[in-house]
Amino acid sequence: MTIDLQPTINLKTAIKQRRAARSFRPDPVPEAILEEIFRLGVRSPSGYNLQPWRFIVVREQGNKDKLKACAFDQRQVSEAPVMVICCGDRRINQADYIESVIQLGIDAGGMTDAYADVMRSAIPQLFENKPSFDSIEAWTNRHTMLAVAHMMIVANSFGVDTCPMEGFSSEQVKEGFNIPCEVDVCCLLAIGYASEPFKQYGGRFGFDRVFYGESFGESFQL
Ligand SMILES: Cc1cc2nc3c(=O)[nH]c(=O)nc-3n(C[C@H](O)[C@H](O)[C@H](O)COP(=O)(O)O)c2cc1C
Repeated sequence: MTIDLQPTINLKTAIKQRRAARSFRPDPVPEAILEEIFRLGVRSPSGYNLQPWRFIVVREQGNKDKLKACAFDQRQVSEAPVMVICCGDRRINQADYIESVIQLGIDAGGMTDAYADVMRSAIPQLFENKPSFDSIEAWTNRHTMLAVAHMMIVANSFGVDTCPMEGFSSEQVKEGFNIPCEVDVCCLLAIGYASEPFKQYGGRFGFDRVFYGESFGESFQL
């Protein structure tokens, strides 16, 4: 039975409160909250709804310790009750996979024969021509990180802390966790309850630095 939990923290507060946690208490994350984090995380959008993300959920201490050794010994990896190895699967352009996405759309009531045909012809072309990315890896990473961002915000809305991590050896993680060669490790995500005050907030650039109006480099005014 699925329990429909409601977050206790509103969206704006969750986004503002989210910080990268570098140390975790051993307290477990309730299963129902973890389920919401994962369920809402994968409501993230993806091109043609291809959902290239794959997540390995690591909770056994021995496996977390093994992962820590692949992550330059960062302490949060063995401390967090839940570690997620967030992967992007490059096999999303295979015909049988495209058919499974089409079937998913049919089952959800949101697929027409015409759109199914568009998918069958346009998706292989997209990955052949790569008009907006250099490699399939860049494409899968783009999407996987969106889902990770969703998970982090959902986690915070339930009072749960996270730490996204790129400090790891991809080769070691792949070998240690049986990850196929067509699957890339995009990041690690620690999930749990922070045990120490966060680092001092590092700030964010103002709009003048990161937003442009109409054309790159042009000033943006609200
Ligand atoms: C993709 C990505 C990779 C990161 N890798 C690490 C990491 O390996 N170890 C770590 O302690 N923090 C890591 N961080 C956290 C950042 O250092 C942190 O988000 C940044 O300093 C801003 O702080 P804040 O998230 O608390 O606002 C990573 C963040 C992102 C988004």
